[in-house]
Amino acid sequence: MCGIVGYVGGKAAAPVLLKGLATLEYRGYDSAGIAVWHNNKIEMVKAAGKLQVLRQLTDEGQSVPGFMGIGHTRWATHGEPSDVNAHPHLSSSGRFAVVHNGIIENYQQLKNRLQRRGYEFVSQTDTEVIAQLVEYYYNGDMLDTMIKLLNALEGAYSLGIICLDDPEHFYAVRQDAPLVVGLGQGENLIASDVAALLAYTQEVYYLDDREIVVLAADKVEIYDTNRDAVEKQAQHIDWDVSAAEKGGYEHFMFKEIMEQPDSVRKTLSPRLQDGQIKLDDFNIDVERLANFRKIYIVACGSSYHVAAVAKYILEEATRIPVEVDIASEFRYRGPIIGEDTLMIVISQSGETADTIAAMREGRAHGAHVLAIVNVLGSTIAREADDVLYTWAGPEIAVATTKAYSTQLAVIYLLALKFAGLLGRLTEQEQAECYQALVNLPEQLERTLQDKEKIQFLASQLYNKHSIFFIGRNLDYAVAMEGSLKLKEISYIHSEAYAGGELKHGTISLIEPGTLVCTLATCDRLIEKIKSNAEEVKARGAYLLAVAVEGDERLAGIADAIFYVPKTLPWLQPSLTVIPLQLFAYYVASQKGCSIDQPKNLAKSVTVE
Ligand code: F6R
Repeated sequence: MCGIVGYVGGKAAAPVLLKGLATLEYRGYDSAGIAVWHNNKIEMVKAAGKLQVLRQLTDEGQSVPGFMGIGHTRWATHGEPSDVNAHPHLSSSGRFAVVHNGIIENYQQLKNRLQRRGYEFVSQTDTEVIAQLVEYYYNGDMLDTMIKLLNALEGAYSLGIICLDDPEHFYAVRQDAPLVVGLGQGENLIASDVAALLAYTQEVYYLDDREIVVLAADKVEIYDTNRDAVEKQAQHIDWDVSAAEKGGYEHFMFKEIMEQPDSVRKTLSPRLQDGQIKLDDFNIDVERLANFRKIYIVACGSSYHVAAVAKYILEEATRIPVEVDIASEFRYRGPIIGEDTLMIVISQSGETADTIAAMREGRAHGAHVLAIVNVLGSTIAREADDVLYTWAGPEIAVATTKAYSTQLAVIYLLALKFAGLLGRLTEQEQAECYQALVNLPEQLERTLQDKEKIQFLASQLYNKHSIFFIGRNLDYAVAMEGSLKLKEISYIHSEAYAGGELKHGTISLIEPGTLVCTLATCDRLIEKIKSNAEEVKARGAYLLAVAVEGDERLAGIADAIFYVPKTLPWLQPSLTVIPLQLFAYYVASQKGCSIDQPKNLAKSVTVE
């Protein structure tokens, strides 16, 4: 989704903006632009296409002097990706420049009203309405203007605004869209996420909705809509700038795949203490847990696939019914929620619009919301009743890998904690699970060592047009993730099916040479999935399998097998998914795809 950067300070603003926007490229975009205040003028340069175009147009920022500016990468929603629709947008008189992330739902009404008053529009965007509206409300007092603006706009947005009359300040605000303030030495910044700030500062303010920020080089003031000053506590971000850089790897995705043992270790180890599971501030006791009659797990995309794994595990661990839902469906289907509902929301970014809306729906109906989130201070982290962070560090590649793995790790912790509280595991079983968790990072390391074999297979199979992933139980849930990984970065059509479901229709698509990847790590269901594998093999499929080391039951049927280390059944998904991530990566690499920024995709989906 769109990225925003704003800067005021002692450095030339344009190169800072370009560098910040480069850090936000991973969010997905199709045009970019900057506006810089200089000598009583707002200099604006913007263009469709990648940042490289903007860099050339501005001579790496050198041709746009000035010490205060705003920049933007746009992921088109209203109007095609084009020079004129790119941000920033200027008001008619050129007095205001605006960058915007999100969607203004009532933009058409506002536009009609402004047009009746003689305002002329040059773009098809909802953002231009904001620029014109600021001009319409402006009475010399920017704070007053910002308050009027907030009262007029409906929808989700974060904004950066500069005003020609004010060479020393720029303004920012957020409503249901991400925006962070970076506090530097003699310079201050805003950005859609902290990754863009790390080169300048690790001290940030997380904003609440409708807080108005006034940034100068030497101070940052925040006001509420009553014009009262808001006192904020600065937060220190542990991530350093190298965490958001490639560090010698060709792609962020590969770096993040290889970081998984470490990210999982960081997520697990502070919570594994002397044989006990410690869940940070989530104080759950047996009485409270036993009061929950239902658990909903709600998320989008890969986070939803973690939910799919979690359903099997948490239901077995608690015998409390667990329903998993895609957030965009949950929020509109009138789910049955009450005070006896535990709602678990899972999100890497903590800013996914549908997941936020689903969480609010749950809370409004009395559910207790536990969030599993990667980004500190994100909307979901701030609004949930309890948070368990995944300590994956910044995830830059659009296709998630380490966030998925750390989300799974948190699910295991929950399952073990809940099962222990409810007396559903013997002491010995608990000790075994605990030890299996301790061993998991090392097993991940071992699984990743086999990558060349997968690379070789990818080089043989990358020209397939369609791939099916099948599995049963937890393997089915992992199959969904394997299929999504492949299609999102390699653009090969792929589908995931529960092994037993294939013959109810989809098997008609299997023909000689069709690639089917069979996940066969669920010990008690191997014979069942083996039959499904035989069925597709009999129709000429090329059969790839993932099995646990030492299990030869698929050996006579599969054309190729990836072996993964054996762990306890609950934890197996963490290892099974690794060859699927690597396969997707190497196939996309063979095809020369844009791996870190696949077409049409955005890292953090902040619109509905
Ligand atoms: C796929 C992927 C997406 C996200 C989804 C939810 O590789 O990354 O499907 O999982 O957009 O995002 P978060 O977890 O930030 O809510």
